[in-house]
Amino acid sequence: MDYPYPIKIRAVWWENNQVCWIDTSKLPFEEKTYCTDEPERLARAIITMEIRGAPAIGVAAALGVAAYAIKIASSNREEFINRIEDAIKTLWNTRPTAHNLFWALTRMRNTLRSAAEGLSTNEIADRLRAEATRIMDEDIRANIRMGEYGAELVPDNATILTHCNAGALATAAFGTAEGIMRVAWYKGKKIKVIATETRPVLQGARLTVWELMKEGIPVTLITDNMAGYVIRKGLVDLVIVGADRITREGYVINKIGTYMIALAAKRNNVPFYVVAPTSTIDLNSSIDDVVIEERDPNEVKKVLGKPITLEEAKALNYAFDITDPDLVTAIITERGIVKPPFPENLKRIARGG
Ligand code: MRU
Repeated sequence: MDYPYPIKIRAVWWENNQVCWIDTSKLPFEEKTYCTDEPERLARAIITMEIRGAPAIGVAAALGVAAYAIKIASSNREEFINRIEDAIKTLWNTRPTAHNLFWALTRMRNTLRSAAEGLSTNEIADRLRAEATRIMDEDIRANIRMGEYGAELVPDNATILTHCNAGALATAAFGTAEGIMRVAWYKGKKIKVIATETRPVLQGARLTVWELMKEGIPVTLITDNMAGYVIRKGLVDLVIVGADRITREGYVINKIGTYMIALAAKRNNVPFYVVAPTSTIDLNSSIDDVVIEERDPNEVKKVLGKPITLEEAKALNYAFDITDPDLVTAIITERGIVKPPFPENLKRIARGG
């Protein structure tokens, strides 16, 4: 595939009829890649965050369904269809918050059901492969489009604060928030980035710093609780983050800690931009319907696997939080920039422009 910018890092890809990924849980210390055509193995990779980031898990799940369909294409028709439906359910139940997972699996299920009428198992598997690789390609192209729209909002010499990792490692490639940084950088803007470490899984420290350093974009790491002070001190010109789900009212669900950054940005008149493909917009959900993932408290009680508190200590581990629409300056999608009022404008953009 041809893209207008270099694609240097891929989080998930299609190879030899399998879904492959770089294990982001080991980065930046080890660069391990894996491939599978087994839904259970892929589900484990998503749950344990070898693959993470809303668009990446959607793309991986779609490719995983296609790989499995190709693998079992010699089964009899009924068994073939039932086993693929089961694989979709297995992947559906991995992580509850990112909308892209359900969006991608719904596309795969719709493809299966429409192809099931009259086609052979091999032909159905082929349709599923075509749909999954299309989802992957669309994701990369959407990131590039968002990068182009978003780069217009970035002044030369700007310092951008970002949280978690909304980069190539969270998408099929290129990234959403980091996609904007890439395009701004390739266009010659002398940007600098401040990355929060993003406790407890450290996506900022491990992934964003690794990704931006590879790109040559200047990046400075801070602890999560420095964000308020650096914003107040005037060190940040704009905040750019990704999203796991955007509800029809314009609430943004993103990595835990995003809300506090949005509050500090609002208080200090710093623009707060959210970058997400339309596959993250969930017009069917209001904020009360969204499930915020709670992960194993042991993630909080350890740093990189090392205990930081008493073994019997209690801990809470919410993976995401909710940012109110009035804290968001604009939402950048592949179809354009969405400004308030979000309920009307999100509906228009999600339905096609
Ligand atoms: O728990 P994670 O690492 O999957 O959370 C990822 C985020 O919160 C990202 O900001 C979001 O998925 C957007 S990625 C383009």
